[in-house]
Amino acid sequence: MDAQVIEQLKAGIEFERTRTGPPEGFPQLPDIPAGRYTDPEFLRLEQAHLWKKAWLYAGHVDELPEAGSFKLWRRTGSPIVILRDNDNHIRAFYNTCRHRGGPLVKEESGTLPGGLVCGFHGWTYTLAGELVSLRDQRDFVGLDMSCRSLIPVRCERLGNWIFINEDADAPALADTLGPIHDYFCSLPLDTLRLVSHQTFDVNCNVKTFLETFLEVYHLKSTHPQTVDRFLDHRGTHIILWPRGHSLMLSPNRRPGWVDPGAQGMPEMAGATELEREASPSFNIFPNLVTPVSPTGLPFNLIWPVSERRSLLEVIWFAPDWGGGARHDRWDTRLRNYERILGEDLAFIEQMQASIESAGFHGVPLNYQERRIYHWHEELDRRIGADHIPASLRVAPVLDNWVREGWT
Ligand code: FES
Ligand SMILES: [Fe+2]
Repeated sequence: MDAQVIEQLKAGIEFERTRTGPPEGFPQLPDIPAGRYTDPEFLRLEQAHLWKKAWLYAGHVDELPEAGSFKLWRRTGSPIVILRDNDNHIRAFYNTCRHRGGPLVKEESGTLPGGLVCGFHGWTYTLAGELVSLRDQRDFVGLDMSCRSLIPVRCERLGNWIFINEDADAPALADTLGPIHDYFCSLPLDTLRLVSHQTFDVNCNVKTFLETFLEVYHLKSTHPQTVDRFLDHRGTHIILWPRGHSLMLSPNRRPGWVDPGAQGMPEMAGATELEREASPSFNIFPNLVTPVSPTGLPFNLIWPVSERRSLLEVIWFAPDWGGGARHDRWDTRLRNYERILGEDLAFIEQMQASIESAGFHGVPLNYQERRIYHWHEELDRRIGADHIPASLRVAPVLDNWVREGWT
């Protein structure tokens, strides 16, 4: 990361530490309507306009080690098979046979030495999705096999990370990510390895949960013995970027502090003062939150299941550790992280019960919580305000506070 940008970010932290109120001209944030967290119709709009039209993290190439390796991915509700083809390209297709929709793979993951074979009547496709054989071809008079390839799903890589987008017309991933793309390209993306993958099933709306990752106002009350001991939430510098993305840069309380759980671990090439002296936490809109440390980073991915149930995936990545086992401090580090998540989870399910009660009317957000409002503004842009009942819309008020770059 550019030294001049780091200096500007440090100045941003200093401004936040010393200010006596929000900066001049910062707007009053209208309350977020309660129905956005509970209304099944609103969830349906999110499903159609957000989840099926966004770039979403779907896997790491380590999960597809050889030609023919595949994984089944259903986080948007559609069955999608992601695979490595014979040319080592990662591809994605709907797991949907072009005959009558039979599944091509039924296991969660595995290898496909003979291409993709539908179990229902045996239509066979190459790993590039071309239909190459079907039984009793004499009875499909005039069927043009070249027009019956599997339907591809947009699939792009950022280093070893695989992203999926069901929207065939979506802009390229790099263009969507903007400055976040440039930042990640300064890290050794092609050599980051998958450390661990955990999934938590949580009884709350996806937004209720996601929002806890978008602010540090809760640190003092929720994490007094953990995160609050090393991060100074009052110095948190925030950048709101177009398309709903954002950065929250929280400085360490003490200069030179090193996470005891990560002591002795090798640093990523490209790590700077930014990750050593602060915690830069990115939100790749909509559901990926990653606080980057010099020695590794977790992807926190929050997925909707129903209006009151969601899944959290926590996936850690670290610089390549060579041939042996991963660093022996990882067990402790993962346990520490799980403890922090537990502190959030202790509130979250009860909050959902409250949100569904007559005691909940809406969410007043403060200046420190503006990333949440920014997220909701983008949600309405994606859905299209005209599709949303007036009582559930959020008014756009942050336009003047969104930046194209780092400053
Ligand atoms: S549904 Fe796949 S071969 Fe018939
Ligand atoms: Fe938290």
